[in-house]
Amino acid sequence: MNKIYKIVFFSIALFTYQISFCQNQIPHLLKQGKTTQLIVGNQPFLILGGELGNSSATSKEYMNSVWPKIKGMHLNTVLIPIYWELLEPEENNFDFALVDQLILEARKNNMKIVFLWFASWKNSMSSHAPDWVKLNQDRFPRIKDDKGLSHEILTPFSDSNLQADLIAFEKLMQHIKLIDSQENTVIMMQVENEIGMLPTARDYHPLAKESFKKEVPKDLINYLQQHKNKLVPEFFEIWKTNGFKTKGNWESVFGKGKHTDELFMAWYYSKFTNKIIEAGKNMYPLPMFVNAALNRPGKEPGEYPSAGPLPHLMDLWKAAGPTIDFLAPDFYNPRFKHWNDLYVRQGDPLFIPEHKFDKTVAAKSLYAIGHYEALGFSPFSIESTNKPEDEPLGKVYNLLTQITPIISEYQGKDKIEGVLFDKENQEIVKEFGNYEFTFKHDLTLGWNPSAKDDDWPMTGAIIIHTENDEFYFVGTGVVITVKPIGSTTNKAGILKADEGIFENNKWKTIRHLNGDQTHQGRHIRIPFGEYSIQKFKLYTYK
Ligand code: DGJ
Repeated sequence: MNKIYKIVFFSIALFTYQISFCQNQIPHLLKQGKTTQLIVGNQPFLILGGELGNSSATSKEYMNSVWPKIKGMHLNTVLIPIYWELLEPEENNFDFALVDQLILEARKNNMKIVFLWFASWKNSMSSHAPDWVKLNQDRFPRIKDDKGLSHEILTPFSDSNLQADLIAFEKLMQHIKLIDSQENTVIMMQVENEIGMLPTARDYHPLAKESFKKEVPKDLINYLQQHKNKLVPEFFEIWKTNGFKTKGNWESVFGKGKHTDELFMAWYYSKFTNKIIEAGKNMYPLPMFVNAALNRPGKEPGEYPSAGPLPHLMDLWKAAGPTIDFLAPDFYNPRFKHWNDLYVRQGDPLFIPEHKFDKTVAAKSLYAIGHYEALGFSPFSIESTNKPEDEPLGKVYNLLTQITPIISEYQGKDKIEGVLFDKENQEIVKEFGNYEFTFKHDLTLGWNPSAKDDDWPMTGAIIIHTENDEFYFVGTGVVITVKPIGSTTNKAGILKADEGIFENNKWKTIRHLNGDQTHQGRHIRIPFGEYSIQKFKLYTYK
């Protein structure tokens, strides 16, 4: 190649590279070390979210009072339903006015959106199906219970049910692509909502009965064989008890009982949802997930919304739903760690699309993001507060907004931990670099009159180990003491402790902490009732 050609060739290559680099990629999930990050506008994005009450996004007028509240709580993302009945009031006649308004208002408020596709199923039921679906039961059949009675739940065994939902979702994704692929206001999609079978564990519609008699699908058998050592123990045990069979109908491979009814339904719910997601992603491939109503202990399948994307069914959901990016828990029960541990046990990302908007959410958002390196957190009915400026969640989200770049940089590298305390769980010990940290609920110090209360409000924090002996600490109501690892003679001291803020991603010290604030050098502390970011450096002495 002569010199002039070389110069032209490399200039074109560089130009093409710059163009492709500058263009926004569609929001997507990306692995960093052990963690999965959501990438928006080519940057990791941590969802500091809230989900709207079910009917709030049905008009622009109602939403006018909502935007200032959620902005006042420092949310960066709002989870908003799209209602099938309003989107497609007549078959093949789509009304995108509400979708457009929501996206425009979100942009004005500097907010991202996760849309929730309330379509075939919302909390088991099919109440969001348009009337042309509801009124034509022959074409759009419903599930039947064991007595042959219909319920207002579309059966996942009907192809016309699938096609109707799928076409609407395709149109929705096509439209979002059209108006949003440059700005990326919409960053993820939740498809359906809390899918679950009621009041029996299995559908007894003739189409369902026919499938139940058939052989267990080959795809599931292949999955079982390929993932034999990785299946969740609850499911592995069922397969093992029946002799690891690889041929036969559902009852012969997994045994007769409600547990098998539930496995069967989970497979078909997931298959149905997967087809919708696949069609939607063909239009515009945003990350897409499904959420679950967590089952109550001691209840049998059929007594709780069964067969949803629950931890004991995750292998079925994953095997039948390869295009579903992840399964997500909704929290209306207190066993936060228990359920989250179950959701992450196969290395999947954690996102919490719903948590009851109670007094624990501020601390739990810190724990979810610190301990599980979650994609984000989102209390339900976020607009129900009348005092957004006083909400502890808003105070925490304000801090998390500032420190997100540091969190994103250190995710997936064993450099971050989250802690969560109440009266029953007051302390944890964790090693970072050369130090052993003891984290405690601030009320353990006994300095605050609330320490005498029977119940201690939840507190939480995130610690990030940035450089050798340097740490960021963000949260509320947590105290830390430190000692060097592996030495009986050496001690650890605080070289420097500062409280501050990030301005344009740059740390600015507002207060140098010493004296009583560090108990004369004995501890690092964010007192109960206060919310802050601290940066501190440790050293050892003999
Ligand atoms: C969980 C559902 O997913 C939400 O849409 C809502 O119905 C809440 N339960 C309870 O209000």
